[in-house]
Amino acid sequence: MTRLQLNNAFFDGLDSSICDVNRAVSLPPGCYTDAGFFAFEKRAIFDREWLCVGREAWAKQPGDYFTSSHVREPIVVVRNRDGVLKAFSAVCQHRGALVAEGAGNARSFICPYHHWTYSLDGRLVTAPDMERACDFDTARVALPELKLEVWLGFVFVNFDPAAAPLGPRLVKVAAALAPFDLAHADEPSHAEISGPQWTQKFPWNWKVHFENSNDSYHANKLHKGLNDVMPTSLSEFPEMPADTAGYFRFNGTTEIDAGFNPLNKAILPIFRGLDEQDRRRVIFANVPPSFFIFTRADYVTYVILRAESAEEVWADRGYLVAPGAMQQPHFRERMAMTTANGAAVNQQDRSIDAAVQRGLRSRFAPRGRYSWQEGGQIALNRWLVDRYRAARSRAETP
Ligand code: FES
Ligand SMILES: [Fe+2]
Repeated sequence: MTRLQLNNAFFDGLDSSICDVNRAVSLPPGCYTDAGFFAFEKRAIFDREWLCVGREAWAKQPGDYFTSSHVREPIVVVRNRDGVLKAFSAVCQHRGALVAEGAGNARSFICPYHHWTYSLDGRLVTAPDMERACDFDTARVALPELKLEVWLGFVFVNFDPAAAPLGPRLVKVAAALAPFDLAHADEPSHAEISGPQWTQKFPWNWKVHFENSNDSYHANKLHKGLNDVMPTSLSEFPEMPADTAGYFRFNGTTEIDAGFNPLNKAILPIFRGLDEQDRRRVIFANVPPSFFIFTRADYVTYVILRAESAEEVWADRGYLVAPGAMQQPHFRERMAMTTANGAAVNQQDRSIDAAVQRGLRSRFAPRGRYSWQEGGQIALNRWLVDRYRAARSRAETP
């Protein structure tokens, strides 16, 4: 397994991963396997970037909460009494137990260990049997709050209190997705979908997973037969603004309202805002390091990626449909037909992710060349290298 030295040669060598796709090579294999490099990525990326944790609709009423984690930081998102969505570290400020796990509705967060109790604004309101503790003031204790922003109905948090807002740097991505009006799309519950598991932990680097979603090149090869309605020759990689926080690609389809099911046709109601051009292509949109989405005319798959370590990542996967779709006859059966194919594709992708991670650990792991259909990898490399280099300059600035 490669151990990376984060020296001049390493940072200079990244130039070859951000040039034109027809000249570029992939990142050094150690970027996917080395625990030291993951620690660097924590500082360069995860401590500073917006990280998706879920849907705003998961916490509609005051007291509704859900939990997540990124880079092993437990996070709770809650709608407070005033109806404002808030994000906190879920770590109790007494001895570190978690004040919330899973999801539910709470009047306050009572830590199960010694019953320190926090309001929905994160303030410590009671701490039993602490009257003898010197200089202890509950008013000075609170769950650390994280910045929170909602984008297209998805909740993002940021560990950096000075982080610039996300939305203004995703204008072009939001414009591409606008016809789907994702903020108001409906999300079937797990019970309404007999599809792949929603949350799973995988034994590979988060970028291996991200790059698979980024990859047009493999769709009619690895998934041959499953994805015939979306030939990779119809991939398009629109230019993005230099400071973009995300990017997307289009992939044309052979038919209008193409579907990834045995009929090759959309079988759920089409999103109302789509015009004919929208209905003849799919969008793969990416907001690194934690979020990607894949649209079709009748439903959208989203994935929240949550890096855990150099070689572990969690993925939460869900589906969005047009408002009212769930009330249509045979919705469950149609959704099952749709997700059955998605599960088969997903299985192929996850098997290949595992193989890639094994290969990247090898002494023979390449910095390989790209096809023109891998333009998405260049977009990701540019996003990463900007941040790797910025972290390095910050480290060098006294
Ligand atoms: S660890 Fe939470 S109350 Fe003690
Ligand atoms: Fe795939």
